[in-house]
Amino acid sequence: MSTDNTSLHLEKVVPEAEDFLPILGTDFVELYVGNAKQAAYYYQHAWGFQPVAYAGLETGKKDSVSYVLQQGKIRVVLTSPLEKDGEINAHINKHGDGVKFVALWVDDARKSYEETTKRGAKSYVEPYELEDENGKAVISGIHTYGETIHLFVERGEYEGPFLPGYRVYDTKAKSPDTGLKFIDHMVGNVGWNEMNKWVEFYGKVMGFAQLVSFDDKDISTDYTALMSKVMSNGNGRIKFPINEPAEGKKKSQIEEYIDFYNGAGVQHIALATDNIIETVTQLRDRGVEFLYVPETYYDDLLDRVGEIDEDLEPLKELGVLVDRDDEGYLLQIFTKPVLDRPTMFFEIIQRKGAQSFGKGNFKALFEAIEREQDLRGTLN
Ligand SMILES: [Fe+2]
Repeated sequence: MSTDNTSLHLEKVVPEAEDFLPILGTDFVELYVGNAKQAAYYYQHAWGFQPVAYAGLETGKKDSVSYVLQQGKIRVVLTSPLEKDGEINAHINKHGDGVKFVALWVDDARKSYEETTKRGAKSYVEPYELEDENGKAVISGIHTYGETIHLFVERGEYEGPFLPGYRVYDTKAKSPDTGLKFIDHMVGNVGWNEMNKWVEFYGKVMGFAQLVSFDDKDISTDYTALMSKVMSNGNGRIKFPINEPAEGKKKSQIEEYIDFYNGAGVQHIALATDNIIETVTQLRDRGVEFLYVPETYYDDLLDRVGEIDEDLEPLKELGVLVDRDDEGYLLQIFTKPVLDRPTMFFEIIQRKGAQSFGKGNFKALFEAIEREQDLRGTLN
């Protein structure tokens, strides 16, 4: 990562946010998975992530193995246990594959830990140093919703491929990237009546400010409902919408998630692209499955959102959704769950001015999710 970060956290775009926890960006997202080697294959060849770093038996790590992949600024770590029992196995047993760590890139991991724990964050790990021949890094961590952890990563002048203890991971067979640039936002699902508790956590403990909220009138179909509030840090690089289920005629998709994940966790990660048509065409052709909306969605699309730069035909063919707000428009599409359990999925998003989250698409989108829930027999 670049070490030229002096100017990055000065530009404050969310004035209500506080400054005690400057975050430079997302450092990495780490999933605990049942088979990291095969998951790494999926993310490399279906999604176009590139091999970066590895830790495992060959590097002296006895209890677990990790593959680090990167595309644009998006860094994904896939970790599997190498032994029975232990924390990773317990996590996989309970949740299936899922996000364990949302690691935040900071200048000072000790101060980040101190500022958040003194405001009430529960400690996961006190600041500790990691060192190898490529330099030094400092890591600390706090708990957030469910069993999800925020790590604070201070990498200073570290010059190795990832973090101390990892070595370069390279493969002969590489798949081209798919144009994914950075994490736009990352959504957490929490249990009934827990949204405000976690909104308060991000506000009080992390200094984030609330951007928008949606209630069950915005986000409901005939059958299911949910509520959502979006929290952002000061420079807008970290946006965490928090969802909770709301009462509907049938089971909410958030409830389905909570049932299968056995608790709160990361629901979706939105990845930004500059060309959604090219990105989604690539992903689809390599086997990534997307939710589809009925073709009627496109009949009056331009009446709803006005003029857009893109041709309608490819958007319709791929199932890309469009929404407009005061500042511009956005294009977005959602994958089906990428794990065995109907838990985590991805969103691909291209912003053309709009800073919102696609409220105008919620209804069409949730109806698409309900069709999938119905196939799984979990809509009742
Ligand atoms: Fe999203």
